[in-house]
Amino acid sequence: MQSNHSVPGKERAIGVFDSGIGGLTVANAVFDLLPAEKIIYLGDTANIPYGNKTADQVRDLSFRIIEFLLQKGCKAIVVACNTASAAALDAMRSKWPEVPFIGMEPAVKPAAKLTKTGKVGVLATAGTFKSQRYAKLMHAYAKDVTMIENPCVGLVKLIEQHKIEHPETRELLESILRPMEAEGADTFVLGCTHYPFVEHIIRDIIDEAEHIINPAPAVARQLKRRLESLDLLNPSTEIPQHEFYASGEKEAMKWAVEYLTGREDVEILTPYLGYPSN
Ligand code: DGL
Repeated sequence: MQSNHSVPGKERAIGVFDSGIGGLTVANAVFDLLPAEKIIYLGDTANIPYGNKTADQVRDLSFRIIEFLLQKGCKAIVVACNTASAAALDAMRSKWPEVPFIGMEPAVKPAAKLTKTGKVGVLATAGTFKSQRYAKLMHAYAKDVTMIENPCVGLVKLIEQHKIEHPETRELLESILRPMEAEGADTFVLGCTHYPFVEHIIRDIIDEAEHIINPAPAVARQLKRRLESLDLLNPSTEIPQHEFYASGEKEAMKWAVEYLTGREDVEILTPYLGYPSN
């Protein structure tokens, strides 16, 4: 495969990855905040969902994706997946200490500050809830707050099938959110990058005064700070040509790019990750 290391440092792309289309909610925040930056997005749709895999499996899948993104010459990598960040962000940083990684975590810290009832609903995957990283986060920021957790079984799949406006999705969200509200939750954390796709439905179900936290804009700001501090922000004024890759099914990504950005002309490419299907 061609390596892109000949491209000057600041003009190199930013790699963004997830198990599927969820990380596009983060990529979209990056498009808004850093319009000069080229994004190479990879959704590992051949292996989705990550949420019910072991941490070792998610780490191995993530490593292959990172190798691919580094081959493409990426100057920084956004792990736009809470599950992969929870499973392997530390391992990624120790394997590639020279690479700036921007990871994700459920927004427990801001939620603990925002809640007035002291009860927060956390929507994430089983993998994220099981991780040490999440346990540490709870220990550090949520000692005085009750976190009501739900692994939202089936939600990622419905979103990947673009069944966002489907009654099944609303029913599932009601079954997740009603008990949280009944327990007194007034703040809800979107702890999986797929869930902002259904934020409008969540908002419709819960009380208007309640808070929903989507961390994507904060991740984009964090990326900007990291690039600034490393003097890696792209000074170009040209609109970059982003690249979108899906390791398996491509239809969902084509739909999601169009849904989020309004762009209809996007081609979804196949990455070489060394899986048997490649
Ligand atoms: N989008 C991913 C996350 O943020 C996980 C979805 C999956 O289970 O694959 O956790």
